[in-house]
Amino acid sequence: MRKLTNILVTGGAGFIGVNFIRFLFGEDCKTPEFDGRIINLDALTYAGNAASLKEIDEKFGGTRYFFERGNICDKVFVDDIFKKYDIDTVVHFAAESHVDRSILGPEAFIKTNVLGTFTLLDCARNAWHGAHDVLFHHISTDEVYGSLGETGQFTEVTPYDPHSPYSASKAASDHLVMSYHHTYGLPVTLSNCSNNYGPYQFPEKLIPLMILNMLEGKPLPVYGDGKNIRDWLYVEDHCDAVWTIMRDGVAGEKYNIGGDNEWENIKLLNALIGIVAKKRGCDAEKIKALITFVKDRPGHDRRYAIDCSKIKKKLGWKQSVKFEEGLDQTVDWYISNAGWVNSIRSGEYQRWMERNYGGR
Ligand code: NAD
Ligand code: DAU
Repeated sequence: MRKLTNILVTGGAGFIGVNFIRFLFGEDCKTPEFDGRIINLDALTYAGNAASLKEIDEKFGGTRYFFERGNICDKVFVDDIFKKYDIDTVVHFAAESHVDRSILGPEAFIKTNVLGTFTLLDCARNAWHGAHDVLFHHISTDEVYGSLGETGQFTEVTPYDPHSPYSASKAASDHLVMSYHHTYGLPVTLSNCSNNYGPYQFPEKLIPLMILNMLEGKPLPVYGDGKNIRDWLYVEDHCDAVWTIMRDGVAGEKYNIGGDNEWENIKLLNALIGIVAKKRGCDAEKIKALITFVKDRPGHDRRYAIDCSKIKKKLGWKQSVKFEEGLDQTVDWYISNAGWVNSIRSGEYQRWMERNYGGR
């Protein structure tokens, strides 16, 4: 039996990490079986916000929840965290996660995603001395598989073919994780997930960017012809899948996670426009007039689609949130959380958008 007692969550102040910690501890706690401690290690880059976990910190801070600001590339610091909290489980979310940023500046992606993952793996190996009741779960992406044509899906045995510096750095980290299992026997599991959406997502990503621009009457920038396809999954369903793998997944195995929910970007945008128009009591055509086709992302992958039958059949996971409901809740969340949006958009993010996109 795995301990899952002292869990090191890296990147726990980012979009999925925050949702994962809320999933474990939240009001409507979905995991009554979890009674351990969470140690959230995060560097608080532009994408991290410790205040997203304020209520968790107020309720569990110092007893079952601990925040440690630091860099996963800092070996001395990470070694110390393993000792200080007697870590028996790692769930590794921390990463540079935005494809456009990786095109503009790949170096941070190599440092955090490749060297950072290597550092964590090595610290885990040193701390665990060959133990079997421990686990290193690595969070990865469907982008490592490359791009699909009109048909087919990525399975766990699809060869890696990453196209952006982001996906190449994630692919490298996946290979390192598996190499630590094969070479040193480190108990690892790995998951490759499709596009997430939901509360606390940083507004550089498609869905929150579009919601906020609609609410503010700004242009809605669509890359290329808008016909690229992504497979969307509500973030809480991803958290549930990760927790399922951490509990029951087989060491050395990888699992695909997806929404079975493919959408062309332009069709998704029109669906979102319908939701926002209804909530705001305004004319959808007026919002549609904000759609602006802009220069395509270099090397833009055309289509992603995930075959997630393995995790369904072997571990009994399934998606639970319907896309229309998830989108509706997400729009409500961004409307009701202007304070969070303003704080995360101030400072470094604002300056980056102005530098690269003229403030869009
Ligand atoms: P995010 O950018 O919102 O959050 C990343 C977090 O990592 C931030 O809190 C940031 O401060 C922290 N971080 C970055 N560099 C660090 C470092 N060197 N040391 C410590 N902390 C650092 O990312 P996200 O969307 O929450 O993604 C989390 C993970 O899930 C990533 O590994 C990503 O590749 C993967 N993933 C994301 C999606 C998606 O749709 N967002 C889908 C599949 C997989
Ligand atoms: O597939 C999983 C991946 O999903 C994760 O690994 C990444 O961390 C995450 O950022 C996400 O990557 P994408 O590149 O798919 O997400 P993004 O939200 O940046 O873009 C989604 C699609 O929308 C993509 O086809 C590009 C397009 N797009 C994006 C933006 C920001 C636009 O047309 N306009 C935009 O302004």
